[in-house]
Amino acid sequence: MIHSAVVPVAGYGTRLLPATKSQPKEMLPVARKPVVQYVVEELVSNGVEQILFITGRSKTSIENHFDDDPELFRTLTETDKQDLLKELDFEALKANFFYTRQRQQKGLGDAILCAENFAGEKPFVVALGDSIIGLNARSRSLSRMAEVFEDRRASCVIAVEEVPPGETSHYGIVQPADGGDGVFRVINLVEKPSPKEAPSNLAIAGRYVFSPVIFDMIRRVKPDHRGEIQLTNAIQFLCEEGRRVVAVKLPRDEKRYDIGNFPSYFESFVEFALADPVYGPEFRRVLERLLGRAAATS
Ligand code: UTP
Repeated sequence: MIHSAVVPVAGYGTRLLPATKSQPKEMLPVARKPVVQYVVEELVSNGVEQILFITGRSKTSIENHFDDDPELFRTLTETDKQDLLKELDFEALKANFFYTRQRQQKGLGDAILCAENFAGEKPFVVALGDSIIGLNARSRSLSRMAEVFEDRRASCVIAVEEVPPGETSHYGIVQPADGGDGVFRVINLVEKPSPKEAPSNLAIAGRYVFSPVIFDMIRRVKPDHRGEIQLTNAIQFLCEEGRRVVAVKLPRDEKRYDIGNFPSYFESFVEFALADPVYGPEFRRVLERLLGRAAATS
């Protein structure tokens, strides 16, 4: 079991402007909860106890979200809205939260480097703050990844999922040593390859387990043309050094919901809203009515 996780949430989220001008994309709601709450719930249900957020300017709402709010508690209690208190149950999640700032947004690799003191000598999880794994974050994949990390004495375990072969240029893509099914060794990674150059259609899916050796690798990465230190390049160095990098394919019912771009955000919101036990059935009727009307006019 791995008890520490790092959640990078410092990015600008430019692909979601103007929604992200003054609020973090990680706080956008997907149905009833902000993205980052799903991420934390997934971490806690997989045994994580210490969570370090790598934050930046204009991200304080994330800290506030995981803090107690005595005034809100009092208002709900005194105004006879006790039933709404259960919506704040997540405040009691059994995790310790830590925050540090990435002072300049120099890429995901640079963000992870801010976690070096927190991680110490122990392996740790990285969970991207803009990605949910599985409907309502009911995923056990991190526990599986932690087991694989120990069993295979790996330096890094990456969650991957299949993407349509024509879309590889949106993702970091892994090159499997063999078939690429279930759990397999990775011999190389390529950041956003064209479909022609892609070594597979298995994309990195926003969850990792690392040994602290990753920090030395990140320090060796040169900034790319946008000045960003790519985490993928640091993992590439692990592969080149012959260290064990292993991929775990997400099961079909644990897909990655990427909240980093509008089409995927819209789709995620609709899927979660349809699955809502209270509002889902009525929302389905509304959608069917809207779609019927759209079909009639087209
Ligand atoms: P993205 O690669 O989606 O980058 O980050 P971004 O800057 O947030 O988004 P765009 O490209 O401008 O739209 C993946 C995760 O890594 C974090 C983000 O907050 C997100 O959760 N991140 C990214 C950092 O913490 N620091 C960075 O410098 C970049």
